[in-house]
Amino acid sequence: MIRPETIEKILDTVRIEEIVGDFVTLKRRGANLLGCCPFHNEKTPSFTVSPAKGIFKCFGCGEAGNSVHFLMKHEHFSYPEALRYIANKYNIEIEEEALTPQQLEKQTEREALLNVSDFAQKYFADLLYNNEMGQAIGLSYFYERGLTDVVIKRFGLGYCIDEWDNFTNHATQNGYSLNVLEKTGLTIVKENGKKYDRFRGRVMFPVFSVSGKCLGFSGRILSSEKQAAKYVNSPESEIYNKSRTLYGIFQAKGAISKQDLCYLVEGNIDVITMHQAGIENTVASSGTSLTMEQIRLISRYTKNITVLYDGDAAGIKAAFRAVNMLLEEGMRVRVVLFPDGEDPDSYTRKYGAEKIQAYVTEQATNFIIFKTKILLEETKGDPIKKAALIKDIVQTIALVPELIERNIYVKECASLLDISEQTLATELAKCIVSNRKKQFENAAVAAAATPSPAEQLPANDYPTPNPDIPADQQGPTPDEAERLKKALITDGAADPLEVYERKLISLLMNSGTSTIKQPAKDEQGNDIEEENYVSAIIVGDLMADELDFKNPVYQTIYETYKNNLLEGRMVDADYFLQQDNIELANLAATLLTNTYNVSDNWMERYQIYVPTMDDNLEKDLKQSLLRFKQMKLEERINALSEKLKDEQTDDELTLLLHQIAQMKKVKVLICKELNQIITS
Ligand code: CTP
Ligand code: MN
Repeated sequence: MIRPETIEKILDTVRIEEIVGDFVTLKRRGANLLGCCPFHNEKTPSFTVSPAKGIFKCFGCGEAGNSVHFLMKHEHFSYPEALRYIANKYNIEIEEEALTPQQLEKQTEREALLNVSDFAQKYFADLLYNNEMGQAIGLSYFYERGLTDVVIKRFGLGYCIDEWDNFTNHATQNGYSLNVLEKTGLTIVKENGKKYDRFRGRVMFPVFSVSGKCLGFSGRILSSEKQAAKYVNSPESEIYNKSRTLYGIFQAKGAISKQDLCYLVEGNIDVITMHQAGIENTVASSGTSLTMEQIRLISRYTKNITVLYDGDAAGIKAAFRAVNMLLEEGMRVRVVLFPDGEDPDSYTRKYGAEKIQAYVTEQATNFIIFKTKILLEETKGDPIKKAALIKDIVQTIALVPELIERNIYVKECASLLDISEQTLATELAKCIVSNRKKQFENAAVAAAATPSPAEQLPANDYPTPNPDIPADQQGPTPDEAERLKKALITDGAADPLEVYERKLISLLMNSGTSTIKQPAKDEQGNDIEEENYVSAIIVGDLMADELDFKNPVYQTIYETYKNNLLEGRMVDADYFLQQDNIELANLAATLLTNTYNVSDNWMERYQIYVPTMDDNLEKDLKQSLLRFKQMKLEERINALSEKLKDEQTDDELTLLLHQIAQMKKVKVLICKELNQIITS
């Protein structure tokens, strides 16, 4: 509905670094900016923003696009929503073609709700300081709890008069419609038409969106005698969705991203007291258990979260489930337990800012270790309970996406639980395999339903493969390729070669015992079809070209297949799961049924094609072997080219150049063969 001229203007004005910079901490690196990717879990930054080109690219997970794509992906905006956001940011007036009546209604309703919320927030905040009751009751309550004017204002705290319809009257007198007031929940309209305020005689905690818009309120009761609920909250509405907001996120987000850490507490007051004590990177789940949306909200700013618990066992155990969700999202979770009966607010009030700061840093314990210790205390040597505990811990460790971290937990927990690392690793491997299977099934269903991000992006943003161009003129520029090598992929994989090595190993493990038919010649030279094991084909092919794996773990796996095949035996993936080499077992579990943790989108965009689990095993196999060889060749060509720089006799130089030329020829051949397969 937005006019094309307006869209053009928006795209001309927008600065990618300013859009991305609102959500990601970026550091300058030459002409570009670098940060941690908000779309996947990473420790070393591989998310690049190019102000000159107006695009972002993650060399880790493959997300890429312009400012609009970023907002669509990051904020889950639709295309017009993203444009509107930008227009708003740069004060560009949007000229629209007419909206449909329904669209118009929806849009204006949202705006109307936001307006009235904003009006209410300002009104309540004003009463706190400028109304007699507000001062005497509300403000003095906050002072009693140790809050200063600075934080009271920063969090927009307020007070509402203890009358039936004080606010509703005030709002309607100022032109706000009853209908909208009712929709925000600020006014309750009874069946008999009587209307009254939801919030009466309470101190008010407005809930702000990430960008500082007031979405709703939490009102705390003052007198303890009253039978009413301690907190009254705004109901869900067009603008307020409790599961998608976090109390304090607006005030905390800068500190969260700067410190690369988020503290999670339970209560609103805890957030404010922590803030006042200088720990500004704090948000609250507001008493409910954490939701996926809230976790994603935090993970925009940091992957590190420290959960602060009040020290009662029931509460802690109830929170374990929420923490599992955090782990699954790739967050690194630590916990701090407060002494019985204390919460961050009471602790700070008792001991002061310095003590709480020291406490939360010194006491922060890794969650998995913490959980193991807590549960272990309960088993008191009961073997049945202990078996259940091991299962529980294994399931938790299995949620951690990174291999290296999992291995650390296996070691530490095995020692805590007083069992062998091997036992724990085997349990873990089993658990991961079963999880991955489930994931794979779910992903397959989801993939069938949605178009890939690549399809949604304009095609001309990315190079498209051209079968007529030789391989060495295609794909990433040398500069990009260099960075890719450094930044690539998950689980510690460091370069593109690793991707193909992994793919081949994954094929060995997943399909090694499957067979495919290939054309061959019999003794008389007639064309026949020969059936072969996939593992035999891979091993045969690599042996013929004398190729090995660079990654030592992959090489071990490959050799195991090779040596067994040479002796006429067949191994399968289970063989590795039962290995006493923990690293191997863990890796086997990861690779099994999991072929898409290397980013397929990314591969597609840069024409480094990694086939996925395909019904067409034969095609998959051929491509994987060829790609692997292509990479190996690349590596050799590079090594030889390096040598060119050394001093050489003329003969040596000629020989080198000849070798390089030969290899380039082979590379072109491989490239052609690959294109044949891809287009067949
Ligand atoms: N909460 C709620 N409704 C209730 C009780 C609690 O919505 N009836 C939410 C509030 O967001 C509250 C949080 O759960 O901040 C934690 O509850 P609690 O610890 O009881 O509240 P505090 O804010 O710590 O209250 P207090 O002023 O007593 O310290
Ligand atoms: Mn409290």
